[in-house]
Amino acid sequence: MARLHIGSDHAAIELRHELVAAALAAGHTVVSELGPGDPGDSIDYPDIAAQVCERVHSDPGTLGVLVCGTGQGMAMAANKHAGIRAAVVLDCFSARMAREHNDANVLCLGARVVGPGLARLLLQTFLSTQFAGGRHARRVAKIDASGS
Ligand code: RB5
Repeated sequence: MARLHIGSDHAAIELRHELVAAALAAGHTVVSELGPGDPGDSIDYPDIAAQVCERVHSDPGTLGVLVCGTGQGMAMAANKHAGIRAAVVLDCFSARMAREHNDANVLCLGARVVGPGLARLLLQTFLSTQFAGGRHARRVAKIDASGS
């Protein structure tokens, strides 16, 4: 079972709640949930990305989930942080491969792009897939060594 840090900006509060509920229902642990409670509380997504990435980096073995309108801004911001490999995912194959080949440790989803049903499936796929290691470990090490 995974231990998760989940965050959203104002554009994805509802999806954040959906994903927290889905993760808990599947037996995962939500260690922290960050982001506004009211859609009127506009917040800059890089600030939430920074908080979630800091937690993922300093709490080994945990994974992050970042949701905003498209997932793109969260991923761009997250990938600036040390030790973070964030992937925007729109389909189940990519959700699986991002873990299996790229050892992604942050899943980014867009609340204005995917519906709640697909988002739950993408989360479930991401969390149930393990990194394959082997030749992929060498490639991931090169990503990490390349800095931001
Ligand atoms: C907020 O309007 C929106 O720009 C943000 O949620 C996200 O989609 C950025 O990538």
